[in-house]
Amino acid sequence: MNTPIYDFLKKYGQSGILRCHMPAHKGKSLIPELSAMYALDITEISGADSLFEADGIILQSEKNISSLYNTSGTVYSTGGSTLCIQTILYIMKSENRKIFAVRNVHRAFMNAAALLDLDVEWIMPEYSGGILSGNINPQDIENALKNSGKPSALYVTSPDYTGKTTDIKTLAAICRRYTARLIVDNAHGAHLKFLPQDIHPITLGADLCCDSAHKMLPALTGAAMLHTSVPEYVPLLKQAMNMFGSTSPSYLIMMSLDLCNKYITEKIKSDIKNNLVYLENFRRKFSDRLVFADGEPFHITIKASESGLDGNELAERLRKNGAECEYSDKTLVILLMSPVCTKHDYEKLSYALSETVGECRKTRPYTMEFDMRLPERVMSIHDAVFSDSETIPVEKAAGRICASVKVPCPPAVPIVASGERIDRNSINIFVRYGIPDVIVVK
Ligand SMILES: Cc1ncc(COP(=O)(O)O)c(C=O)c1O
Repeated sequence: MNTPIYDFLKKYGQSGILRCHMPAHKGKSLIPELSAMYALDITEISGADSLFEADGIILQSEKNISSLYNTSGTVYSTGGSTLCIQTILYIMKSENRKIFAVRNVHRAFMNAAALLDLDVEWIMPEYSGGILSGNINPQDIENALKNSGKPSALYVTSPDYTGKTTDIKTLAAICRRYTARLIVDNAHGAHLKFLPQDIHPITLGADLCCDSAHKMLPALTGAAMLHTSVPEYVPLLKQAMNMFGSTSPSYLIMMSLDLCNKYITEKIKSDIKNNLVYLENFRRKFSDRLVFADGEPFHITIKASESGLDGNELAERLRKNGAECEYSDKTLVILLMSPVCTKHDYEKLSYALSETVGECRKTRPYTMEFDMRLPERVMSIHDAVFSDSETIPVEKAAGRICASVKVPCPPAVPIVASGERIDRNSINIFVRYGIPDVIVVK
């Protein structure tokens, strides 16, 4: 697989040409260790193409990734999946589609819904233990789309933050029955295409999906891809992304995506094969002491409370023993691995975890079971976000309308979404999650 972006940057970096153009660092780093990186950091000069009007090296590289994921079209994002989600929702808005969203959305969705003044109808997943993960009942989707009365789109997050995947194939079949578009936030699943069984959302029937390459592939932070399987959307992707993206997208990030194409072609499948063995051995080693959640293999989600441990203590001690986790709360610890992890990484993690489990105090099982119902909707997300607001203690918020959502950063069911009324039930959940204040409409 060729790497047109990397090749161009490398040649330019070595050329010695006088850079009478942006960026102002002129290819020189203030710190010698970073010189090689600065030399590659350029802007849209002659021959470098342009992300939103791509017809040269960027287009070539995007065609490479599109062929690897077998999509109708794929475009690069240097603004993460956040930018892809804005782009997708903009296209849905321009088609005047009603959005049915399974509620465990990332806040990128909430923000885009506010900016675009989207008509969002929520579908509540069925919960088990906490607000991070739940099951989607296909019948709920069927009922929602059947009664929509408008062109619609279904928005789902899969894998979720714990690595749990949804039955995209079934949802795609339901969407097709009602000519609804299926959008998948696959931020955590760029590698799913290359598992022994390809379970990437586009393969399973999604119309549009975003992959944060930086989460699961060896790409720089901010690198993401927006895929579509719908030929009519291909020319719209750039036009729509251009509405939100910086006019100075990072070439370093695009280069890292370009290099991922080579990695995918040459190495990812064998790396995944090796990692699956390490992952299985790792889980087996701890299976008598820890309870693991089901999900795609690279998310090691430890059900700490079910294992008789406090998740935050486990994470804290794990850090001291040399391993930093992706996320923890009282009930869960999420360790995120990737295809580039080595046998040595798993040995180090095994050692750290063995030490940690030994040190942690045993706790009584703690469950995060809530009565998650949809709060009353009083105004649109857009109107609530753009209204005059104030921050008040959670305990005093009963009856007030939520202005901006304050959920813990990972994608989890918003306890209350913007425009919804805060009730006693929601206050209890805020308190359980240690959220002290809320932003409400004045
Ligand atoms: C499910 C999900 N969607 C979207 C995003 C936003 O992705 P990015 O950070 O690539 O913009 C995240 C980030 O954590 C996420 O977890």
